[in-house]
Amino acid sequence: MIELAPSILSADFARLGEQVRAACQGGAHVIHVDIMDGHFVPNLTIGPPVVKSLRKVTDLPLDCHLMIDNPDEFIPVFADAGVNWISVHQEACLHLNRTLHLIKSHGCLAGVVINPATPVETLAEVLDIVDYVLVMSVNPGFGAQKFIPSTMHKMRRLSDIRSQRGLNYRIEVDGGVALDTVADVVRAGAEILVAGNAVFGTGDPRKNTESLLRVAAEAALQKV
Ligand code: DX5
Ligand code: ZN
Repeated sequence: MIELAPSILSADFARLGEQVRAACQGGAHVIHVDIMDGHFVPNLTIGPPVVKSLRKVTDLPLDCHLMIDNPDEFIPVFADAGVNWISVHQEACLHLNRTLHLIKSHGCLAGVVINPATPVETLAEVLDIVDYVLVMSVNPGFGAQKFIPSTMHKMRRLSDIRSQRGLNYRIEVDGGVALDTVADVVRAGAEILVAGNAVFGTGDPRKNTESLLRVAAEAALQKV
């Protein structure tokens, strides 16, 4: 099943509740929350207090994408703030197995993320313990960047490995997903589609969500 995860990074933070509600009305399945520390990526975003407030606005799962060094220090705090999914970057984790188990021990789904320059092969030893794999299709740190098409082979590869090894993880894509790229990523195997600028950048988040889901659903039908 294809799911859309609007990223609040491109939302108007002064009207966050209203904008998230609009995306929910448009059929969003998950709300993607980008956490940046100014070290792992060259930008800063929000912390647990905002997540706590967001939790009051929607019952949808909150998908917390940690773009931070030392994620173990913050996993318990974000879990307490009410997120449901937590993903960490392979590149940020020296003890990835331990970190993924830490996420699960807090009752959250555990995801692992790879940057555009990181191969799928680096995940071989954790694919059997993750709930989802997030393929970055831009270099993380900012919204509204240009989609990097060469990342799509990783979605295909993850889909093949999943069948070969009989695993269950889901495949998520993040970065530059918009009306002109969404069909391609769905055909490549992505199932959870993060979109920031395409939902909150211009126009009505509700209509934007509906349009993206419509194009994604058509592409999913072509795939079968
Ligand atoms: C980028 C973030 C993304 C970002 C995507 O570092 O991880 O979630 O919000 O934004 P768009 O969809 O605008 O590329
Ligand atoms: Zn993200």
